[in-house]
Amino acid sequence: MDIQFALSILLFVLPAYVANALPVLLGGGTPMDLGKSLGGKRILGDGKTIRGFFAGVLGGTVAGGILTLLIRVPFFPSAQFQFLAFALMSFGTMAGDALGSFLKRRLGMQDGKPFILDQLMFLAVALLLAYPLSSPEPYAPIPLVALFAATYVLHLGSNFVANRLGWKKVPW
Ligand code: CTP
Ligand code: MG
Repeated sequence: MDIQFALSILLFVLPAYVANALPVLLGGGTPMDLGKSLGGKRILGDGKTIRGFFAGVLGGTVAGGILTLLIRVPFFPSAQFQFLAFALMSFGTMAGDALGSFLKRRLGMQDGKPFILDQLMFLAVALLLAYPLSSPEPYAPIPLVALFAATYVLHLGSNFVANRLGWKKVPW
């Protein structure tokens, strides 16, 4: 994988990273599940809020719009496709994040407990939604594995820093 390809892949997922990071700073308030439970366990939990969801979707989409004005990622046939993919990925990020929490709650895990789904589910759903709009290059096995591995490390590192800065209760 050459540097230019690796950088293109990073730009490809940058709006998803922005969407994933913003709720930590801007979230809070009413939970998306409105406090409701399913089979004695919360549907999503207090960590998934309506404000956080919309902050992620809108913030990621705005970041994607700015990025599209500044630079074209080579996997998209046009700027319009790129922006649409970034908007869909921002939504996919927040939907995947909520799906991860839904699965954690079904497994009986408390809010905030670290789990591999925290790092990877948002990326999986974001990539899935962008798939129809992108060329297949980022979805080849080697870039995919590299992307998930890099995201895992970056997510753990940034959460550790966010915790040290007092933005996040737990370091994961
Ligand atoms: N957050 C939010 N709304 C969202 C997602 C996240 O308000 N839709 C905020 C919450 O304050 C949450 C913090 O970002 O506590 C960290 O998010 P995350 O790690 O995804 O949630 P957890 O609290 O760890 O809960 P879970 O176990 O469900 O992942
Ligand atoms: Mg968490």
